[in-house]
Amino acid sequence: MAGPSTQFWQEKFTSGQTPWDRGSAHPQLQLWLAAGLIPPQAQVLVPGCGRGHELVALGQAGIAALGLDYTPAAVELARANLGALPGRVELADVLQWQSPAPQDIVYEQTCLCALHPDHWQRYAQQIHRWLKPGGLLLALFMQARRESAEQGVVEGPPYHCDINAMRALFPSELWDWPAPPYTAQGHERGWAELAVVLRKR
Ligand SMILES: C[S@@+](CC[C@H](N)C(=O)[O-])C[C@H]1O[C@@H](n2cnc3c(N)ncnc32)[C@H](O)[C@@H]1O
Repeated sequence: MAGPSTQFWQEKFTSGQTPWDRGSAHPQLQLWLAAGLIPPQAQVLVPGCGRGHELVALGQAGIAALGLDYTPAAVELARANLGALPGRVELADVLQWQSPAPQDIVYEQTCLCALHPDHWQRYAQQIHRWLKPGGLLLALFMQARRESAEQGVVEGPPYHCDINAMRALFPSELWDWPAPPYTAQGHERGWAELAVVLRKR
């Protein structure tokens, strides 16, 4: 398998080297919640949930989301973080997991950019299968372009989620795209994430 393994992520979590982690829920999730995009009864999936800050924010809003992660340490931390709040966490590989029921919303934050681009097609197909028609993909596309990209080097994680690549990965035949420009949410590590809401046709 190209890219990081579950062992790579396990070591990140057990050593506490998780530079992507804001220590709290992503500000864009709070904006999407405030905008009423995530109704209380919605079936919400959070792939690659890590420590689960977003599950906690959703749980606090009364939304019982399902977090997926294939790294045991992440699952343990997310379950501890979630505590008695609504929601749950499953140990699962997002490239293999099958949804028992159609999802209303997939919240994609730093899972795509954690996967080597060789796996992006598979992951995009998975998201498409999980969602019901009309379901929403709330995406934060990581902008982390490196100079080595000019020589064709694929470097990550985080792997740069170029908007042109995203258009190819989530094609307009399958997804309704809002018109740009999109909000860019900055990260203290110098990255930014483009907030885009896609609707499955
Ligand atoms: C960069 S971290 C982001 C965690 C969380 N989304 C956040 O923003 O704090 C990427 C996460 O995706 C998980 N992950 C990577 N590949 C995965 C896969 N194939 N299946 C499930 N989880 C995966 C890792 O274990 C890790 O928790």
